[in-house]
Parts: sequence; C-alpha cells; structure tokens
Amino acid sequence: MDFFNYQGRSLYAEDVAVTALAEQYGTPLYVYSRATLERHYRAYDEALGDHPHLICYAVKANSNLAVLNVLARLGAGFDIVSIGELERVLAAGGDAAKVIFSGVGKQAHEMRRALEVGIKCFNVESEAELDRLNDVAAEMGVKAAVSLRVNPDVDAQTHPYISTGLKENKFGIAIDRAEAVYLKAASLSNLDVQGVDCHIGSQLTQSTPFLDALDRLLDLIARLAEQGVQIKHLDLGGGLGVRYDQETPPEPSEYASKVLARLGNQPLTLIMEPGRSIAANAGILVTRVEYLKPTEAKNFAVVDAAMNDLLRPSLYGAWQAIIPVEQADESVKTETYDLVGPICETGDFIGKNRELALQQGDLLAVRSAGAYGFAMSSNYNSRNRAAEVMVDGAASHIVRQRETFAHQIAGEAVLPE
Ligand code: LLP
Repeated sequence: MDFFNYQGRSLYAEDVAVTALAEQYGTPLYVYSRATLERHYRAYDEALGDHPHLICYAVKANSNLAVLNVLARLGAGFDIVSIGELERVLAAGGDAAKVIFSGVGKQAHEMRRALEVGIKCFNVESEAELDRLNDVAAEMGVKAAVSLRVNPDVDAQTHPYISTGLKENKFGIAIDRAEAVYLKAASLSNLDVQGVDCHIGSQLTQSTPFLDALDRLLDLIARLAEQGVQIKHLDLGGGLGVRYDQETPPEPSEYASKVLARLGNQPLTLIMEPGRSIAANAGILVTRVEYLKPTEAKNFAVVDAAMNDLLRPSLYGAWQAIIPVEQADESVKTETYDLVGPICETGDFIGKNRELALQQGDLLAVRSAGAYGFAMSSNYNSRNRAAEVMVDGAASHIVRQRETFAHQIAGEAVLPE
C-alpha cells in the first residue's frame, strides 16, 4: 500500500498533484511519500510486536537524509555498509547505538570511526576481517561487538546479481566453517561476540528461503551454546520483496509471524535489515516525454530520465510500472512504446513494450523507484543528477537540490600550465 493514487485523471503523491511538483521542481524528479515510508516501517515494527527487536533500515536502498530522518524519528536502527552511510545516519539524527555495520570490505579507518561513535554491532564477513577488527579495537582500548555473517547456502530464488546466500557468493562465512570462526572470535580479547547474522538476497517473494536460513542459524546457535558461546541476537538481514508487477511477496506481518513461530520462546533479540520493502514503493521517478520517435521497427518515446537516474532496468532488466501523470483522453492513440533516455547506449531504457497513450511533453511516473533508484544514480554522460522531493500531506519539501554543472565539476582540476 502506498500513497501514490489518482484523483480523477491526475496522479497524486499524498495530497499533492504530481504535475504541480514537476512544474515547481522540474524533471527528472524523485518524489517520496513520508506517509508511505512510515507505514512500511511500522508494518515491520508492529509485526514483531513485543518480541525484542530492532529494525535496521538498509541505508543503501535510499540514503537521502530526509528519508533517514523520517525513519530515525520512528526509532529505526540502520544497517550501513560504509563510513559514508554512517555519517549520513548521524547527520540525519540517527542513533549510533542502533547501527549495525555490514559489508565484505571494511577498512581500518571505517572500523575506528564506527567504534568511536559506539555502533551496536559489526557484521563480520571473514576471518581476516575479524583479526583486523580485533587489532583496531585493541589500539583504541575498547571491545567491538560482533556478529558473524554466516552464509547458510540457501537459494534465495531471485536474480543472480542480488542473490547472496549461496556458497559461490562472496558474502559471509560458510556455515560449515562458522563454528570454528566463532570459537576464534570468542578467543580474541577485544571482541565481544553478540550475534549471528545472514542476508541471503534481495527481492525474495517467498518466505521459505528465509525460514530455511533461520533453521540453519538456530541450529548453529544451539551448537555454539553447547560450546559456551552465548548468542544474544539473531539478524535475518533484509531481502523481503515488493510488488513491481505481478509478484506476491509476503507482507512483513506474515513473514514476521512465521519467524516468531520458529523462534518460540528463545531469548534472542531479532534484527531485520529491510531496505527495498520500506523504500521502493515510497517513491516514484517523474520524467517528461521529450520526443516521440516512431520507426519502422518500434515506437520510441525519448524521456528526460536515463540509466544514470534509474539503473535497474538497464542493469538487471528490471521491470517497473510506468504510468501517466495525467491520464490522456480518448483522442490520444494508445501505442506500444519503448521508453528510452538520452544516453548514448542501447541499454539506456526505462521500460520496453509499454502500452501508453502519449504526446510530446507528457509526464510519466516510474513506480517503485524509492529504493535503489537515486542511490544508484551517476553523472554518466555528464548529466546532473535529479532533484529529490518529499511530500508530507499537502506539503512538499525539496530534500536534494537538482545538481548543477558547478556541483558536478567541484573537486576536478586541469593540469597546471
Ligand atoms: N542487508 C544487507 C547486508 C544487504 O546487502 C542488503 C542489500 C540489505 C540488507 C537490504 O536488502 P533489501 O531489503 O533491500 O532487499 N541494487 C539491487 C539490490 C541490491 C541489494 C544489495 N543488498 C536492486 O536494485 O535490485
């Protein structure tokens, strides 16, 4: 459920007409709905109810400060994978004590900063990282809270680029090595073993792979307890899918109740790291049709958003709904269009074979663009990155100005004479 709906023939973001936003802020434009973000966060929080839990929003999905701030105000924790993400969380008013640090390549300076601000836990992904973290913590005279990211070897049944829980993926510590690595972690004097973690992939549309992973982690936790290693929290990662097209992923409530049923009365704090399921359907990308270009083979609609603004269609062949901001009247003919951007690559498309009634100058909304949309944007072809706006009821706030050429070249220099 989101708050992007038609009123009459016009698309609204909460109580604001999207056409008015495009006129005020220009296009391409990312529009986020505060109410939708809050609803999605609360769906998780309420689903886990009285069971001790922490929802750590995965910052990578959408790291705009306003998005982080809205979630921080609700008491969210955050899953970060770089020091840049940590600084964003802090700048947005997030609580360092609710931050967990994931990722396979943490550098010493990143560990230092995270320890300095007192994050909740590091999700450690290799033995080499365990040693480095122990050294950094020792230099600082502190103990680092750790959880091992275990690779449970389950098939998430999603796109291979976003599947992470199989043996051949680079992530985590193989489950059959995990016990030995835990014993090592427990023996290192500047580490404090707190949790077990996994993240098996993204855009999962079924609960079964999560539950399979959970069973394997619970087994591991029991085996560790026998060896004197007491685990306090279990982090199931993110990955719950959203509806882009016809998918029917479980609701957070359904997913959570299955997880809680498996956990029973074990005194384990549950952590989840949802990104997409909180942010994706809380955002749209608004773009304008620059040209209609009928050719012998295809009808192209050249729009002003491109793969530098929204990479998912080009990178994964991802499908996202594209809908008119103002529904056309009967006089405009419906045709099958490929919606392409201005970038000089054949792979620069936003959608293919879409039935739309279009005229030059029309506005379109790409749905489900709140996660992995702006966050994956770039300046390719020296295009300024889009503006971002957050709607809150009848108000709209610019939460990132459209880039200018000056922003783009800040930091660059030519060689001296
Ligand atoms: N935790 C960890 C350790 C992760 O690596 C990820 C996502 C998440 C949590 C959040 O997963 P989510 O709830 O959003 O599925 N760019 C791709 C998605 C990459 C996901 C990477 N890791 C896309 O646009 O589909």
